[in-house]
Amino acid sequence: MAVCEYKPGLEGIPATRSEVSYVDGSQGLLEYRGIRIEELAAKSNFLETAYLLIWGELPSKTELEKFQDEVRYHRRIKYRIRDMMKCFPETGHPMDALQASAAALGLFYSRRALDNPEYIREAVVRLLAKIPTMVAAFQLMRNGNDPVQPRDDLDYSSNFLYMLTEQEPDPFAAQVFDVCLTLHAEHTINASTFSAMVTASTLTDPYAVIASAVGTLAGPLHGGANEEVIAMLDEIGSVENARPFIESAIAQKQKIMGFGHRVYTVKDPRATILQNLAEQLFEKNGSDPYYDIAVEVEKVVEEKLGHKGIYANVDFYSGLVYRHLGIPTDLFTPIFAIARVAGWLAHWKEQLAVNRIFRPTQEYVGNHGVSYLPIEKRS
Ligand code: CMC
Repeated sequence: MAVCEYKPGLEGIPATRSEVSYVDGSQGLLEYRGIRIEELAAKSNFLETAYLLIWGELPSKTELEKFQDEVRYHRRIKYRIRDMMKCFPETGHPMDALQASAAALGLFYSRRALDNPEYIREAVVRLLAKIPTMVAAFQLMRNGNDPVQPRDDLDYSSNFLYMLTEQEPDPFAAQVFDVCLTLHAEHTINASTFSAMVTASTLTDPYAVIASAVGTLAGPLHGGANEEVIAMLDEIGSVENARPFIESAIAQKQKIMGFGHRVYTVKDPRATILQNLAEQLFEKNGSDPYYDIAVEVEKVVEEKLGHKGIYANVDFYSGLVYRHLGIPTDLFTPIFAIARVAGWLAHWKEQLAVNRIFRPTQEYVGNHGVSYLPIEKRS
């Protein structure tokens, strides 16, 4: 068997053949099923985009209405799941709560009929429908409040913001939030998607697939970076402090959160769209001092690290948008997960269609033939 060279982080090694999305990192191009992200952000909405990603083509009007109705119908979560979540410590991170709750869905819908299209569709619908409800429920319960029931008269994003804040959102805010979900819905074979695919390849249930992806997304090098961006802007505190802060961080070889990407060597196209959205929000509702700091940070990072291909990624401006919508910082990554469920499910389906269990190899660099040393002889 041909053995390829070991690459840390599997950099540049194809893990699958996929039709779901495409990135050209040197051009700043991202397409979902061949359609540019800019076009989807301007013309589509999250649920339609999810349908496109998962079933491979844009739905007809009837298909979309049916899909929206199904998702609306399945938004509620079982009282036992709510009761389980009530026992979670309120100090726990919402990503941990989400991972546990997503995995718990498998207890209720555990039938594995992976060759049955109806089972696949039900799982897709349930996960897209219930994950936002679980995120909102944990937020209310950790503050000592009962979760609110989803509202059938509200669309996907408006309903989520309503469940989170107990107030019907401003339509523009809901629209901006929906675009954020569309932008985060899919991004080729990143760490969490790979995690989902590896789990899927064992033919386990889809709830385990999503739970493992949520756990992977939580780390600060992946989805968790958007929280760190706000912490960094908070620490910088003023536009004047941005340059010395960034220069000192670079001198100390620290990573600047919200910058850099394994694939992009130019500004992430999603960061450009998010920056525009942030500007529109601030124009409408009043400015945010963190935005001015962010713009200065971006300028300095580009100046200092642009030659290494390090530019703003999706996480740099998303936090500013969420902050402006009144969303607590530690919910930024769960919101990323709400969106990315669409991409994970698309790859789950694709994996099932051509499945072979993932079983890579390793380069063994340890010892051989070592004798067992009795405990009393060990130092
Ligand atoms: N700030 C400063 N230097 C950086 C940064 C950064 N954000 N990112 C990469 N570099 C430097 C790094 O120090 C290294 O320099 P050198 O070659 O001189 O040692 C070089 O660029 C390559 O870095 P790497 O860490 O080997 O690159 P990677 O492809 O393994 O990592 C990354 C990609 C996204 C994990 C990394 O850029 C990073 O840690 N960024 C900060 C965290 C972040 O914003 N993550 C969100 C990623 S986008 C959304 C998502 O995937 O969830």
